[in-house]
Amino acid sequence: MRLGNKTAIITGGGTGIGKSTALLFAKEGAKVVITDINEEAGKNTIDEIEQLGGEALFVRHDVSNEEDWIQVVKQTTDRFNKVDVLFNNAGIYLIKPLAEITIDEWNRLMAINVTGVFLGMKHVMPLMAQKGKGSVINASSVAGLAGAPGHLLYGASKGAVRIMSKDAAMEYGAAGVRVNSIHPGYIDTGMLNVVTEATNASKAELGNLFPLENRLGKVEEIANLVLFLASDESSYCTGSEFVADGGFSAQ
Ligand SMILES: NC(=O)c1ccc[n+]([C@@H]2O[C@H](COP(=O)([O-])OP(=O)(O)OC[C@H]3O[C@@H](n4cnc5c(N)ncnc54)[C@H](O)[C@@H]3O)[C@@H](O)[C@H]2O)c1
Repeated sequence: MRLGNKTAIITGGGTGIGKSTALLFAKEGAKVVITDINEEAGKNTIDEIEQLGGEALFVRHDVSNEEDWIQVVKQTTDRFNKVDVLFNNAGIYLIKPLAEITIDEWNRLMAINVTGVFLGMKHVMPLMAQKGKGSVINASSVAGLAGAPGHLLYGASKGAVRIMSKDAAMEYGAAGVRVNSIHPGYIDTGMLNVVTEATNASKAELGNLFPLENRLGKVEEIANLVLFLASDESSYCTGSEFVADGGFSAQ
């Protein structure tokens, strides 16, 4: 059991990468707290984990809301006593020319993708520091490493997550708390509807962008990376960027 005796919070665990990671964490022995704004999806993930014999708790949660974060941490520590792993995964996507982005779109996306990650680290990392150990994994993207047309807002948010992870890693390194960012390429989840609608490209056509086997990534391929970062196997990794993009950013 690679996560035996660990408790993990996964935001946006109702679907996609978050759900796949939650199932893998549970199989590897973690007690998993799944949060999501989508209550039905989050509870479905809990049911699947319980069917596998795992232990999990769902908390309805808007990551951009600080009161909600206080509740998530309280319910986690009431039930499981501690938090060892935080996967700040919840996020939303937008592709739009920069001159057409509205201030409401800007504020909403930044609130979820950036403020959500900040609040998670703010409320969880001090608890980890008290125990002298913890691992935070923040979902960035290849869009947080390089530019692309239509990506000013999303790229700004994921670039912020990249550098916030490094700042937090520097601040908490002495306390034994690790923070890393992950940078997936296109992964086959519901989020890709944003791309197919914006570009009229099929998923197969999008797959051609990626040198490795000309295909999209699978949720399990990201979950495996997050598992490594959550486990003690990555005990000397902090402040680093972990790219899983089928070779896209190597071009
Ligand atoms: N799919 C990709 O190609 C890809 C690539 C790079 C990075 N990412 C990042 O990975 C993360 C997961 O993406 P995914 O592809 O699994 O997307 P997804 O849309 O399948 O899942 C996102 C989950 O977050 C939840 N969520 C949205 N807003 C929320 C909020 N305010 N509070 C709490 N939960 C909220 C949704 O309900 C959903 O369950 C995101 O941060 C995304 O930006 C995805």
